[in-house]
Amino acid sequence: MMGNDTDLQNGVTKKVPGPTVINYKITYEMSAKRMHEVPVIGEKENFFGRDDWSEEEAAELLHLGKLGSQAKNCMNCHTLLGNGAYYAPDLTKAWLDPAWGPEGSMQAMTGKSTKEEAMAEFLQHPSQYATHARMMPNLAITEREAKGLVAFLKHMSSIDTNGFPRNFGKIKGAVHGK
Ligand code: HEC
Repeated sequence: MMGNDTDLQNGVTKKVPGPTVINYKITYEMSAKRMHEVPVIGEKENFFGRDDWSEEEAAELLHLGKLGSQAKNCMNCHTLLGNGAYYAPDLTKAWLDPAWGPEGSMQAMTGKSTKEEAMAEFLQHPSQYATHARMMPNLAITEREAKGLVAFLKHMSSIDTNGFPRNFGKIKGAVHGK
């Protein structure tokens, strides 16, 4: 069952956190007990300039992202939560891909100073920022849709997927291993 804002404020862990998880920093940490990485929800962090998205606003943004992902058929190329294709990188933990973080290449490449803005820019103009032999085509994603999709990806990364996909971030030369 999906958690809610009260769970997040009280540090109650849910397999599927509530939509307002977008107001928090998410990291991926090795659990010695479970022997794989688990998403850990940390302190507040801005998401598109705010860390106070209400439950309704956050839910609306996620809904927009979900509809966008269906309309633009991300699953034709990518895998999301175990469903989809393996033509392109698994998106389940894409938000946690270091490529988008301060040490990664994508913020500099897109000229943005936050993860969410870099990702939103990439989604609107993927063919401008190709990093692989296989390129993501432009899908006519609007700025608003991109924001929803990034919220959708951030929320998805916070879901406890029992360590799947396996080896995320460890395969050298793969998108997450750059
Ligand atoms: C026609 C195939 C195709 C479709 C459809 C597609 N993508 Fe991609 N996508 C790719 C390829 C190929 C890459 C790898 C390109 C690269 O990294 O330069 C990629 C890369 C990405 C990345 C970077 C992955 C990472 O971990 O850093 C994200 C995020 C992404 N796509 C999101 C989306 C979303 C969201 C949708 C749907 C709205 C979508 N893609 C639809 C082919 C596709």
